[in-house]
Amino acid sequence: MSRDTGIPLAALAEPPRRGISLALVAAAAGDVPLASALALQLEAALAPTGTDPATCEEFDVLLLVSGDALALQQTAALASLPGERKKPGRRSAGRDLPGPVSVDFGSDAMRHRRRSGHNELLGRAVGIAGKRRPHVLDATAGLGRDSFVLADMGSAVTLCEREPVIAAMLAQGLQLARAGDDWLRQVAQRMDLFPGDARTFPGNDRTPGAAQTGLVEVIYLDPMFPGRDKSAAVKKEMALFQALLDAGDKRQDADELLRWALAQDVARVVVKRPVRAGYLAGLKPSHSIAGKAVRFDVHVRRALD
Ligand SMILES: C[S@@+](CC[C@H](N)C(=O)[O-])C[C@H]1O[C@@H](n2cnc3c(N)ncnc32)[C@H](O)[C@@H]1O
Repeated sequence: MSRDTGIPLAALAEPPRRGISLALVAAAAGDVPLASALALQLEAALAPTGTDPATCEEFDVLLLVSGDALALQQTAALASLPGERKKPGRRSAGRDLPGPVSVDFGSDAMRHRRRSGHNELLGRAVGIAGKRRPHVLDATAGLGRDSFVLADMGSAVTLCEREPVIAAMLAQGLQLARAGDDWLRQVAQRMDLFPGDARTFPGNDRTPGAAQTGLVEVIYLDPMFPGRDKSAAVKKEMALFQALLDAGDKRQDADELLRWALAQDVARVVVKRPVRAGYLAGLKPSHSIAGKAVRFDVHVRRALD
């Protein structure tokens, strides 16, 4: 099967900076227009409608389009990449594949997460207290859960995500939330997506002539780290993220991101770490707030307004 250009799909599947092959898949005929548009935007292939991830050997990862929802799903092909994920004797097909990953701010899991102790620690780390609701730049937005939690607590949040596939999922998730119930709409209104590298976000640029939005008071970083959580949900997400983000160009630049954040004109920088991990970039924070599994390292630059 080929597109109008006549170029075989497999040849279109891999933009230069991605180490794995990605294809868009429409669940049904009605989903083809959105799937095609996203395929163009993401420079990815369009696999035949209804392609089954469990048997797909052509592409490593599929972005499934069903109605307004997007879900990222690894395929049998990814499960059998050399050095990757496949354990000896493990079947690569169907039953062994982790389930899809999506951005669904209205899910039961997100509603449950609101009430978890993790949120309280995150809120304290960024300086939410009393009536104070600092504007947070989430420099590593990922699937946007921490951003959503912060926005739910009343902070305005700018979500930066540099991986285009994840950014597209975030955009779609935000769009759905803005069309959701009152609570979802209100929270989503406080969230803004910047689809690109956080270091290119112009918001806090104080050079003459630059856009003086200057609103961000806190930069929040949650860089990837291997083996940070043993739960099945996190494992499946990690496998996908690592495939998408690390396989192509191994950008282990979290240390650099912290140095960049500390050079910005913000009141504090907060880094999420596994509870027993060393400090990012070896830089000692002003203080840390530790939970059971994660720790928030807080670098205070000045008092919050
Ligand atoms: C571990 S995930 C973050 C998970 C997120 N806190 C959540 O709650 O869903 C890290 C994300 O940061 C993104 N990222 C890493 N460095 C970045 C940068 N410099 N600018 C924008 N995004 C970045 C990666 O693409 C990845 O999606």
